Amino acid sequence: MYDRARGLIPGATQLYGKRQEMTAPGQWPAYFTQARGCETVDPDGNHYIDMSMCGIGATLLGYADPDVTEAVIRRVRNGCMSSLNPPDEVELAELMMELHPWAQMVRFGRLGGESMTIAVRIARAYTGRDKVAFCGYHGWHDWYLAANIPVDPSEETVDRLGGGHLMPGLEPAGVPSGLAGTAMPFTYNRIEELRAIVDRHGSKLAAIVMEPTRNFDPDPGFLEEIRELATRCGACLIMDEITIGWRLWLGGAHLKYGLEPDMAVFAKTTGNGHPISAVVGRRDIMQAAQNSFISSALWTEAVGPTAALATIRKFQRVDVRSHVARIGEAARQGLKELADRCGVPFGATGHPALTFYHFDHPEAAALQTLWTVRMLDRGFLVAGGFYPTLAHEETHVEQFLGVCEPVFQELAEAIQKGDIEPRIGGPVKHTGFRRLV
Ligand SMILES: Cc1ncc(COP(=O)(O)O)c(C=O)c1O
Repeated sequence: MYDRARGLIPGATQLYGKRQEMTAPGQWPAYFTQARGCETVDPDGNHYIDMSMCGIGATLLGYADPDVTEAVIRRVRNGCMSSLNPPDEVELAELMMELHPWAQMVRFGRLGGESMTIAVRIARAYTGRDKVAFCGYHGWHDWYLAANIPVDPSEETVDRLGGGHLMPGLEPAGVPSGLAGTAMPFTYNRIEELRAIVDRHGSKLAAIVMEPTRNFDPDPGFLEEIRELATRCGACLIMDEITIGWRLWLGGAHLKYGLEPDMAVFAKTTGNGHPISAVVGRRDIMQAAQNSFISSALWTEAVGPTAALATIRKFQRVDVRSHVARIGEAARQGLKELADRCGVPFGATGHPALTFYHFDHPEAAALQTLWTVRMLDRGFLVAGGFYPTLAHEETHVEQFLGVCEPVFQELAEAIQKGDIEPRIGGPVKHTGFRRLV
């Protein structure tokens, strides 16, 4: 099926990270027919416990959560599209305002990158300025990929998005060259980099865009100074909560750190995998959306807001964030102990609820691929990290660690014998940006 897709769909899938080449080329199952709890079934009927990125972080309650699914089915039966608007979006707007006392208005979309683009458009409309300072990953849109367009034509290639923001090797093909110099990156917890941008471009800065956290907590004073810099230069401070939102704190990580941004953007798990996104913000700034044209037919369908209401109400009833932190911690502690015992140079970083793995070895990608392939044989999906869900229980972690033991022993043996790659039975996973042939 994946080979058929490659001939029909450029890049084979709609999400770069779901390419088979990113996990185990030729061996990763690639397609699902059913997904429930933390289990996925492929078209051949194989069942897998998902110990990977679990819906790429879009299903914090687990796959097909019964409460969300029931609400969505009810909505679908009653019709999800009409010439009129769904009242659910007004209820959702009120709920979002309840959770974000610093904000007074909200616009809804359906996708993450799309909603970051809405937020940046609003910031540009509000300030009448063009430039954006950013940290981290924010999607595929022109405002963001513009960071890789050379400002000076003598610079042949620019890889600003490689430095921890997106991925190395990404040409800004198809992004208008006129956007050169409009998007400037800075590194998390390196306030001096943002200070330098503000010193040089402050009067032209429309927005400072970042996640409140991704892999680490902010250094003391980091977020506070960012708030101050934004206020001082008149730029909108936009917090991207698309992946971290709801995972560490009800309403988003910015609330955990006591930060008041000008806008915050939610997507992905806001509807537990059903498309819905939200840009919440201060009234004066959000009203600038009316001076720009920001409008789409499918932003008015009803499933998204229905799913979000059911999902967020469940977040209010159930302490999901403590659960996923506990499961994430148990998995990574267990893996680290196993790795130490077997002599595998393995590490896990990030928040336990959003864990990333690495192998400190010259053949890190081959080791990761071999681990993935061996776990597939044993009924587990494993990739470069683990985003636990409410559906994962301690028993899943115990089962997973038990199965990992002989695999880590094999990884140690392969390192010792220098034959990691030949054991994979196929190519090594890709790293960085690559075209599929
Ligand atoms: C922080 C962040 N921003 C934006 C996006 C893009 O969201 P989407 O894939 O829904 O367009 C992602 C997706 O992984 C993300 O993690």
